[in-house]
Amino acid sequence: MNVSQKYLPIINELKPFIYTYSDNLKNYNTQVLSDLKIFDPFNHEHKNFFKRIRTLDGLCFGGADMGMDPWVILDCAIMPGAIFGFGIESARASDEVLSLFSLTKEDVCFIPFSIFIAIPMGNKTHWFAHNLSSLNSRFTKPYKGLGLLTKLFGIKTLKIEKLIGATQWNNSSLYIHTKLSPLKVLNPKNPVHTHSNSFIYESVYDDNYLNSILEENTTLLDFDYEISSEDDSKISMLNEYVKDGKTITIVNTPIRDGAGLKLQIKESF
Ligand SMILES: CC(C)(COP(=O)(O)OP(=O)(O)OC[C@H]1O[C@@H](n2cnc3c(N)ncnc32)[C@H](O)[C@@H]1OP(=O)(O)O)[C@@H](O)C(=O)NCCC(=O)NCCS
Repeated sequence: MNVSQKYLPIINELKPFIYTYSDNLKNYNTQVLSDLKIFDPFNHEHKNFFKRIRTLDGLCFGGADMGMDPWVILDCAIMPGAIFGFGIESARASDEVLSLFSLTKEDVCFIPFSIFIAIPMGNKTHWFAHNLSSLNSRFTKPYKGLGLLTKLFGIKTLKIEKLIGATQWNNSSLYIHTKLSPLKVLNPKNPVHTHSNSFIYESVYDDNYLNSILEENTTLLDFDYEISSEDDSKISMLNEYVKDGKTITIVNTPIRDGAGLKLQIKESF
């Protein structure tokens, strides 16, 4: 696996981890990256790591009213699926990182910097993308591609071929989701999500393509038109198209457009 220079600090300086029910591990590929740290929800010694996952989740999602309660992390993430991420031993953490987690130099522990959570779905073919978080925006010196590589290596480790996820039309995570695959929009306007501008997408992954992303060796796809994440009437129109049986796919990465994003759409029947 060749990795572009841009992403090497993540591979060289951070450690991958997985937090899952131990019986799930036999179905995962724990050898994708060397030195994978394994956390177990039944192990009392791992309880404080669980608390640090909650701190990270609060830092990334608390403001969006989407922070997870402990039982949600256990029932809807660790037991049925897994949390995959990158982190660092506290001995190597900067003062900035220690302060984010309210730790001191005397605390000896592992600190999560990013998480990707996926859960297998009842249709037996797809996984659901439950969470993607990265602390990059809190760092003076961010790890370029931390969110991207967290999702990419989470997909490889959990052996995910098809993924369904929910996000908002203006969410910056779209820079990441669209890099990993085109997004087929299954439900352009979801009626029940906490945030009304949410849509549901499907991704199908190809391992060779994922490797080409790591090498930064991908090409742009053709598109039919662009829409703005702020244009609710266009999004309602896409909702009608999908109801009528049209396939709507977001291709390529978004372009920043004022407060929102400009997204490239490919249509087909
Ligand atoms: C969204 C999130 C996961 C991004 O993590 P990150 O580690 O900062 O992102 P990466 O460094 O991997 O960025 C990957 C690419 O996306 C781009 N990108 C990421 N966030 C961006 C932003 N806010 N504005 C513009 N570009 C952005 C990066 O520039 C990079 O593109 P490039 O390689 O072409 O330069 C992180 O900001 C986060 O945790 N947000 C809060 C929680 C959330 O909304 N999660 C998504 C739920 S669906």
